[in-house]
Amino acid sequence: MIKITSVKKNEYFSLMKIEESIFEKHVFTDKLKTYFNEGPIKIWKISTTKIIGFVIFYHIQDEVEIIQIGIIKPYQRKNYGTLIINKIKKLNIKKIFLEVSVKNSKAINFYLKNGFKKIGIREGYYEGSKYKIDALRLLFEF
Ligand SMILES: CC(C)(COP(=O)(O)OP(=O)(O)OC[C@H]1O[C@@H](n2cnc3c(N)ncnc32)[C@H](O)[C@@H]1OP(=O)(O)O)[C@@H](O)C(=O)NCCC(=O)NCCS
Repeated sequence: MIKITSVKKNEYFSLMKIEESIFEKHVFTDKLKTYFNEGPIKIWKISTTKIIGFVIFYHIQDEVEIIQIGIIKPYQRKNYGTLIINKIKKLNIKKIFLEVSVKNSKAINFYLKNGFKKIGIREGYYEGSKYKIDALRLLFEF
């Protein structure tokens, strides 16, 4: 059975390991802990018999901003990411915003397939190893 539920404090360590296995840059490894108690920030996990992915997002009034979403490698491209997006869409919201590296074509395709539209570019938003990388701003609107 596939479940999408809120992450509990005692799952922090597992989540940190999952983040490390999915992302080169572990933006949240240090910070994740502090997010557990912050009201508008939500952390959900998707699990079968084990945790296979997670999403971190802000939920303020009728808007969501996705900060980070990841599915572990062997489970990618099997619709799990889409299940997470669909569950977020069921919140009582009007818009979902996010930013993604212009170089992350897999993720961009994933969001476009899930109905997001390109709304702009943030120049030099991410630190690359040699130079800065632009971010694509995407929006899903009901
Ligand atoms: C991006 C991510 C969350 C998508 O979740 P997912 O469960 O793999 O995606 P789904 O199976 O729900 O959706 C599949 C669609 O996403 C895109 N996609 C996902 N993985 C892909 C891959 N390896 N190559 C090309 N397209 C890919 C395609 O559009 C695909 O549709 P298709 O199979 O019909 O071509 C997941 O692949 C992931 O964690 N990637 C690494 C981390 C990352 O880049 N996160 C996003 C940062 S903002």
